[in-house]
Amino acid sequence: MSVRGLVDRIGGPERLREILRDFYAKMTVDPIVGFFFAGRDLEKIIDGQWGFLMRAFGAVERFHGKNPLVAHKELPPILRGHFDRRLRLLEETLRAHDVDGDDIAAWIKVENGFRKRLVQEHPE
Ligand code: HEM
Repeated sequence: MSVRGLVDRIGGPERLREILRDFYAKMTVDPIVGFFFAGRDLEKIIDGQWGFLMRAFGAVERFHGKNPLVAHKELPPILRGHFDRRLRLLEETLRAHDVDGDDIAAWIKVENGFRKRLVQEHPE
């Protein structure tokens, strides 16, 4: 299970962008994670995510955008429930776009790889 060739399998870079547009449309109106995106330039976020994933999926050699760790620095704390919600919305979006099950799993694995670095737990 690998993301190698995933961009070609889903139909190319423009298809990736369409899927991300759909994903962020869901994210922005979501009661759990929507508030993160209030007042932000969505097209810019989509563009950054697109470039990031093109690199993560091996379709291009370089990503010129912000590192996700830097990009999230100024945001409210991302908690485990937010992160889980994002992955759920991603999975729903990918299913709706008929992405192959193995590719969905591989894609989610890439995003999950950032969990430890992006999620801030409550100090308890
Ligand atoms: C619940 C989880 C997440 C939330 C709520 C979230 C939200 C956001 C928001 C609001 C921004 C815009 C920041 C700004 O305006 O400067 C952003 C940027 C970004 N996010 Fe996330 N994010 C999440 C998880 C992730 C994950 C898992 C990844 C990568 C695997 C990622 C990749 C990026 C990238 C690359 C950018 C920068 C885009 C650019 O180049 O401007 N995010 N995120």
